[in-house]
Amino acid sequence: MNRDEHVSLNTADTGAVGIGRTPLVPIIVPLQGRRCRLWLKLEGLNVFGSLKARTAHALLQAAERSRQLEQGGAVVESTSGNLGIALAGICRARGYSCTLVVDENTPQTSRLLMRAAGAALVTASARDGGNPVEARLNLVRRFLAEHPDAVWTNQYGSGANPRVHREWTGPELADDFDGVPPDAVAVPVSTGGTFAGLSAFFREWSPSTTMIAVDAVGSAATGGRAAPRSAKIPGFGSGRESDFLSSADWGRRVVLHDLEVAEACRVLAASVGLTLGGSAAAAVLGAIAVAIEDPGLSEIAVICPDMGEKYLDLIWSRSSEPTAIRSSMTEALACLRLARSASCRDAEFMPGARSCGIPY
Ligand SMILES: Cc1ncc(COP(=O)(O)O)c(C=O)c1O
Repeated sequence: MNRDEHVSLNTADTGAVGIGRTPLVPIIVPLQGRRCRLWLKLEGLNVFGSLKARTAHALLQAAERSRQLEQGGAVVESTSGNLGIALAGICRARGYSCTLVVDENTPQTSRLLMRAAGAALVTASARDGGNPVEARLNLVRRFLAEHPDAVWTNQYGSGANPRVHREWTGPELADDFDGVPPDAVAVPVSTGGTFAGLSAFFREWSPSTTMIAVDAVGSAATGGRAAPRSAKIPGFGSGRESDFLSSADWGRRVVLHDLEVAEACRVLAASVGLTLGGSAAAAVLGAIAVAIEDPGLSEIAVICPDMGEKYLDLIWSRSSEPTAIRSSMTEALACLRLARSASCRDAEFMPGARSCGIPY
């Protein structure tokens, strides 16, 4: 998909623009004796509230173009929240029925939004076998056996997932930076589609840009061992290994505890006033941790998949036990505490970068 192609909620090819062209907001983070600037790509400002609006659009378009999905058809998908909200909305607009398999970690607000757009919800539990994502996939397979005409968009395996980020999100980022590549790009990982697509784009456009993959302790997404996570942040990490990624795709990989990430959300809100979703704050913290070690990184794009409003109970009403923060992350959190918003009037902007910074 070309980034200039208009995205339709009604048909595949024409109509209102509501996905893409998200803002890039700069913040300045002091490090020991220097500073770095993080360019936050606020994907939560897509229609449907997350980066998964792009993915959902692409998955449905692939199913339509291959003629698997026809007028009045039925869609089924496994989701931790964001993809489901976007799929439910686009399916409703295009006249498909939509069944979403969620799990007990899926935030209540996400469920309400999916249902409001007409989706039917099925909740997987430990009884359905394996960890939450495996249990969800078992229920998708069961649904397909009972409804053979339904189409599984399959965000875990469809090439349309990474492709949309290589062909749309990546070029949009290049355009945001007016053709001057950032030193690094930090991306939180779940299915790995966003990271794989952006990594493929940057391999061609700017091989010297360091790709930073940010995963969770207890996630298998980037090859770790799946383990129970008591405070799991939805959409961050996964109980299954990504079908799209190999270690050759990242220059650096950072693995964070959910509680460290929740703390980063609160610190970021307190320092620059932005209430981001958990995986977004993970990418911010991961970017700082890598920048502390690598003085060559001073301009870093950070993919922020959503904002924080769905995670009020999980993130905003609690505070982490200090023991949950590892010493390797204390310095990064301390730097984040000193972060400040960059004014649009700052004369020091990176050449070319077209910031949609909030004018403080
Ligand atoms: C909350 C959240 N975290 C992380 C991601 C990255 O997901 P993936 O690796 O599946 O592309 C997304 C994608 O939209 C998301 O919504």
